[in-house]
Amino acid sequence: MSRVWNFYAGPATLPLTAIETAREELVDWRDTGMSVMEISHRSKEYDELHHEAMALVSELLGLDEDHHVLFLQGGASLQFAMLPMNFIPEGGSADYVITGAWSKKAIKEAKIVASAREAGSSEPEGFIRIPAADTLRLDPNAAYVHITSNNTIRGTQWQEFPDTGDVPLVADMSSDFLWRPFDANRFSLIYAGAQKNVGPAGVTVVIVRKSWLEKANEDVPTLLKYATHVAKDSLFNTPPCFAIYMVRNVLRWIKDHGGLAAMEQRNRAKAERLYGVIDANPHFYRCPVEEGSRSVMNVVFRLPSEDIEARFVAEVAERGMVGLKGHRSVGGCRASIYNAMEPEGVEALASFMEEFARIHS
Ligand SMILES: Cc1ncc(COP(=O)(O)O)c(C=O)c1O
Repeated sequence: MSRVWNFYAGPATLPLTAIETAREELVDWRDTGMSVMEISHRSKEYDELHHEAMALVSELLGLDEDHHVLFLQGGASLQFAMLPMNFIPEGGSADYVITGAWSKKAIKEAKIVASAREAGSSEPEGFIRIPAADTLRLDPNAAYVHITSNNTIRGTQWQEFPDTGDVPLVADMSSDFLWRPFDANRFSLIYAGAQKNVGPAGVTVVIVRKSWLEKANEDVPTLLKYATHVAKDSLFNTPPCFAIYMVRNVLRWIKDHGGLAAMEQRNRAKAERLYGVIDANPHFYRCPVEEGSRSVMNVVFRLPSEDIEARFVAEVAERGMVGLKGHRSVGGCRASIYNAMEPEGVEALASFMEEFARIHS
């Protein structure tokens, strides 16, 4: 078997044990004589798996009774539209903090279905930081405040979440969901496409405060209403069974590895190693992100020229490390080091970066 160190931003590397379990169980799952892709989503076996996955999300995050876990389709991008459709009342408006391309897409959708305003933005400085809390201009009457907890393309991440008082706080956590312990009960809604930190593409994890749903709009198509999915435990229609099965495998792996506190330790050590190499070689590597806003999940960096960057990406691939090209909209290099990236993979990359800087300086 040969596996590479996969630094893609998403879909991204998964824990090997989660994939191996799937391989072992693929043809005959739990002695049913069927794969998990073939069995009815109304069967007892699938129902147990579905609820185990939901329970693991709740357990890992310590969710209270008022928070409900959903598995939806349409990616995080559908949440950009579903959220305002459900929660901005007629004549109301929501606040968005703009920290990169994904927040801009989120507010764009909100403006299609309702009214939304920018409560802060780091766009004038080229998205190199998360706006300081005291620079946000929050509307006390906003339907909610939306943030993007980790900016996958720019490599910035909220270190502390803003205090929005009585206004519900909502976060797109697609690229840093479950990377560390945090008070998820403070949020009225969290959404995350699974394909970075918790599974394959095809399912989006949503956590919604049930008491907030009482204020939700009624005139929303059935499938786009959060209340529909809460009432049916994400089994209103056929769920993406195989993707949810993989999420369950990944969640078991997180739990078996010590839960979110252990993930945080592991992730911080990996990020420190990479930022350490960048900072120790300032003549060669440059991280465009301000130090206090650096992401632990997506480490972005530049080399002295685009030619050298192309060479770096090609040579590192020859050593079995792939996915290091930066997002096409910004260029440069990016190492995505989500939960499942093994410390050995980061060590291999860091050593290569040191060697490459020595040779080409
Ligand atoms: C922070 C963030 N939000 C939203 C998305 C869009 O997710 P999806 O492709 O699941 O719609 C991405 C995808 O990379 C992302 O990184």
